[in-house]
Amino acid sequence: MQRRGVLRILFASAEALPWVKQGGLGDVLGALPRELFALGHEVATVLPLYAAIDREDAGLELLATIHVRFQGVDFPTRIYAAPYPRSECRALFIENQYYFERQGVYQDAATGQPWPDDHERWFFFQVALLELVRQTDMNPDLIVCADWQTAMLPALLRIRHQEDRHLQRTRSVLALHNMGYQGVLPAEHITSLGLPRELLFPLSPFEFYGQLNCLKAGISFADEVVTVSPSYAKEICTQELGHGLDGVLRHHGDRVQGILNGIDVEEWNPATDPWLDEHFSAAHLGRKAGNRPRLLSSFGLDGNYTGPILAMVTRLTGQKGMNILAGCVDRLLTRDLRLLILGSGEPQFEKFLRDVATAHPERMAVRIGYDEALAHLTYAGADFFLMPSRYEPCGLSQMYAMRYGTLPIVHATGGLKDTVTGFLDDADHATGFSFTDYNAEALLESVDTALSAWRNARAMRRLQKNAMKQDFSWEHSAKRYEDLFFQVRDHSRWGE
Ligand code: ADP
Ligand code: GLC
Repeated sequence: MQRRGVLRILFASAEALPWVKQGGLGDVLGALPRELFALGHEVATVLPLYAAIDREDAGLELLATIHVRFQGVDFPTRIYAAPYPRSECRALFIENQYYFERQGVYQDAATGQPWPDDHERWFFFQVALLELVRQTDMNPDLIVCADWQTAMLPALLRIRHQEDRHLQRTRSVLALHNMGYQGVLPAEHITSLGLPRELLFPLSPFEFYGQLNCLKAGISFADEVVTVSPSYAKEICTQELGHGLDGVLRHHGDRVQGILNGIDVEEWNPATDPWLDEHFSAAHLGRKAGNRPRLLSSFGLDGNYTGPILAMVTRLTGQKGMNILAGCVDRLLTRDLRLLILGSGEPQFEKFLRDVATAHPERMAVRIGYDEALAHLTYAGADFFLMPSRYEPCGLSQMYAMRYGTLPIVHATGGLKDTVTGFLDDADHATGFSFTDYNAEALLESVDTALSAWRNARAMRRLQKNAMKQDFSWEHSAKRYEDLFFQVRDHSRWGE
């Protein structure tokens, strides 16, 4: 076999575990770089040094001090490094007191409102990242960006650094984790990046209804675009789920691939998970029930309840199907079940869920906030995991649920479609329940199907074992990324 050598890969991201996580992006950047490092590549992940990161706990070491010129101001900028857990792969942190020494990643944690200067923070981050590469002679083969926060990097590489010996051979890959957020900004903001305003003319790669669209620029300039499941890769090329960029994606369609996310099967293992009261496995499924009493009581419900438990662990946003849940939750709660929801997000959804729980204090409980320990216990102790997402690029939660023998009930979209086999589609191989029409009736019907399966202990066990047998480890997907990255390194779309 031909030797393909070592890839030098730099991931740019707003999140990566164990340092910062708001959703699945944190999980993915916590795992994929390590997997590629384990395959023998030189890999690092670049993150902002947020206030919430404890420098001592994280074992941060000063790597370099670089100079970043941004919006006419010189920022002497310290770069720190820390190893990933269980790996020698490194994360690099860009320090900037003004932009990152605040509580909250995307929003002000105190008010829940987006930072008014959010774009400036991400523009600074991207300019600083390229300076880091230049001033420390990193020579990466590729920079892998994630979502709009880092999506201007491909354009900066092509336009500002095309003649730059430090960066002219560096390719870019844009990973789309969520098309719902695009970084649409007043047109003149493009100049903050040192790019001329004239680049933003009608129908240009930067322009979106007269404004700057960072994600569109990323799609247009990246050497390759990848998203996190095969179904989502197709869906975003349709008007329904393209969030206004389906035309652009169809135009670049031959460069858009879908590679399913994996999960960290060591971290998420019901046989060893330190957050559980009782460990279990497919061979010892009976022990799963040992996690019910504390789960129920943590939510303030009677720990002796023996009927079906439905749970959600989620960001509370429109994406996650809150409106169809609202359309059937009262009817849902007439069934013999308990509904537990752990989540945080948009204030109107938080209030709505609190109000329903107050009206049904015996059957439903809500915990607003982010709680890793309770999330693990919930995946372990529940019987069903509800994920009625309107759209879902990949979704990791349903995979965690399956690994813990908790059957997902999902809207068949994106990664949910690619990972869950519905009971009504293939009863023998089913790993959960899925519905096709995005409405409250279909959701309720799917829950009712799940509840009838629950009444048949043998059927239920078969489904749980099927779910637990699925292999969602990163191994396969990491190899697909590796192939893609070799391809991008060796064949530039710009013909160099
Ligand atoms: P998304 O990234 O769209 O939020 P995913 O399913 O890919 O959806 O990933 C969500 C991740 O965030 C999962 O690891 C899930 O357990 C976690 N999570 C979401 N909300 C909470 C919460 N309130 N507390 C703890 N973990 C949460
Ligand atoms: C986004 C998506 C989610 C995906 C995650 C990691 O947050 O909403 O579906 O699993 O990114 O790729």
